[in-house]
Amino acid sequence: RKAVTRSRLADMHARGEKIAMLTAYDATFAAVADAAGVDCLLVGDSLGMVCQGLDSTVGVSMEAMRHHTESVARGLRRVQGAAWLIADLPFGSYQESREQALRSAMALMQAGAQMVKLEGGGWTIDTVRFIVERGVPVCAHLGLTPQTVHALGGYRVQGRDESSAARLQGDARALQEAGAAMLVLEMVPAALSARITAELAHCATIGIGAGKGTAGQVLVMHDMLGVNLGKPPKFVRNFMTGSDSIEHALRAYVRAVKDGTFPDDGLHAW
Ligand code: KIV
Ligand code: NA
Repeated sequence: RKAVTRSRLADMHARGEKIAMLTAYDATFAAVADAAGVDCLLVGDSLGMVCQGLDSTVGVSMEAMRHHTESVARGLRRVQGAAWLIADLPFGSYQESREQALRSAMALMQAGAQMVKLEGGGWTIDTVRFIVERGVPVCAHLGLTPQTVHALGGYRVQGRDESSAARLQGDARALQEAGAAMLVLEMVPAALSARITAELAHCATIGIGAGKGTAGQVLVMHDMLGVNLGKPPKFVRNFMTGSDSIEHALRAYVRAVKDGTFPDDGLHAW
């Protein structure tokens, strides 16, 4: 398989081929997901919950992100993997200043990431422009932004009323203009994420609990394999159902994203 690059992703986006993304936290699962044809692997700060047993992503450190990014990058290297590797900037690693954000982004790039992801709109737009101009590809993240769960008041759908939908759409536009090449939309109404997707020609939207109208989809790998500490979010599909191996389940996910059968319209109410 040919390496997934910035230009191949832009090409997929332009052609309307859906982008299949999953989280990965370790070398072995990264290699298996790569073999299954996953386009992008995200070392998500969800590793706080999945690997460390935390209640939220708020307590995830730069050290932890660097450690898991290095592990995933090594796994991909071992199998000469093709997947594009994204790493989350954890809470507290980019809020202080643009310089702090750049330093943190560089550390994750040096750990093997090819792109970093950060959460939020508004003040982040300046930060995104600053680090993109300095050679770090950026994925933005709007809607439910788990690092600010305490400010948001819980894990709930965002952009439901007219004013918050307009703010979200404005942020998406500004983030593209600032140079973000990807944008995760988490738990936003399907109609809103479809509207944003249609508007962004140079920034591929990746949905999670955001309907089927986005340019790609992402799930936490453990969720879609049906292994959970608690109850999985209701937008998750367990791809082990009807699969006889993890590799088969991962392939089924890629296929379902590509052919538009995941997610389905009736999956959630918002
Ligand atoms: O940390 C994570 O896993 C994420 C994705 C679910 C988008 O940010
Ligand atoms: Na995250």
